[in-house]
Amino acid sequence: METLELTQSETTTDFLPLNGTDYVELYVGNARQSAHYFQTAFGFQPLAHAGLSTGLRDRESYVVQQGKIRLVLTSPLHGDSEMGTHIDKHGDGVRVVALWVDDATRAFVETTKRGAKPFMEPTHEQDDTGYVVRSGIHTYGDTVHVFVERNDYKGLFLPGYEAWNPAYQPANVGLRYVDHLVGNVGWNEMNPWMQFYADVMGFQQLVSFDDKDISTDYTALMSKVMSNGNGRVKFPINEPAEGKKKSQIEEYLDFYGGPGIQHIAVATDNIIDTVLALQSRGVEFLTVPDSYYDTLAGRVGEIDEEMATLRKLGVLVDRDDEGYLLQIFTKPICPRPTVFFEIIQRKGARSFGKGNFKALFEAIEREQAVRGTL
Ligand code: FE2
Repeated sequence: METLELTQSETTTDFLPLNGTDYVELYVGNARQSAHYFQTAFGFQPLAHAGLSTGLRDRESYVVQQGKIRLVLTSPLHGDSEMGTHIDKHGDGVRVVALWVDDATRAFVETTKRGAKPFMEPTHEQDDTGYVVRSGIHTYGDTVHVFVERNDYKGLFLPGYEAWNPAYQPANVGLRYVDHLVGNVGWNEMNPWMQFYADVMGFQQLVSFDDKDISTDYTALMSKVMSNGNGRVKFPINEPAEGKKKSQIEEYLDFYGGPGIQHIAVATDNIIDTVLALQSRGVEFLTVPDSYYDTLAGRVGEIDEEMATLRKLGVLVDRDDEGYLLQIFTKPICPRPTVFFEIIQRKGARSFGKGNFKALFEAIEREQAVRGTL
């Protein structure tokens, strides 16, 4: 598969060096139950808590962690709140994609001077284990990026949070880090948002494919991937494309009430063990037609995994110039057909499973047909 990787010239310095994803914060209707769900179903470990008991009066947050992946689950404690408005408009959804930086003040200055709309001025937060500086900018829809500087912080998560160490701690399922975060934007908005990530955050396009590759009989989308300089942060951006019926991206936009994060892709070193564990804990995945596996060997060549096992679990495989990857997509994790997770294992491949898009979209369309939203 064609991989267009643009490397920065020796002379340019990255004006926004990123160490990786710091945390992903979801505004949810019931943070306590969401935390339980992510513990029970996805194997996240309890880490930290903030709420009435820590002096907050407007919200409660639970922080869960698995590998390097941190999710913050936040609910408002009163009506008429910004959080409540977000939940009313979007359902449970991602509000913050936080990025780990060495200098949050510089990240704010460099991005806002290039046109980013400020969300949070650089803010110093301290407790007896050190300090954190956070700043933030707006991106598509109601989504924001928060830059987290934590090199002088030894606490569990952030100042203001207490340890959360309940008796109930189901085992993890082997999830390690955020591989990529995909955003859905509106018609003809993909290129302007790519330009935003290029201009404002110094990202570059990683892989390119057009809608011919990924249209099915009914629906279509366009997708491009933006990556930061060191490749630790990758943001594919989708927009709807014309098809015979409603694009799945349009369905997302209708139900989410605008642009937002579509899926969180999390990496594992053993997708078979991880998916077996997730399925046994009740996580539901999209299924592909059995015929997908009849043609798979011809498409991807030799792989380490047993084809019969992948078929049984519904794990997809794709190959590019550098290796192959295995991936599977959950059903939406909330009532609206919006946010879902991807589990991915990379074996050399640095692409995103283009060869699986058609099989995947046909699977999503079957679900859309059941929902009556095609
Ligand atoms: Fe993905």
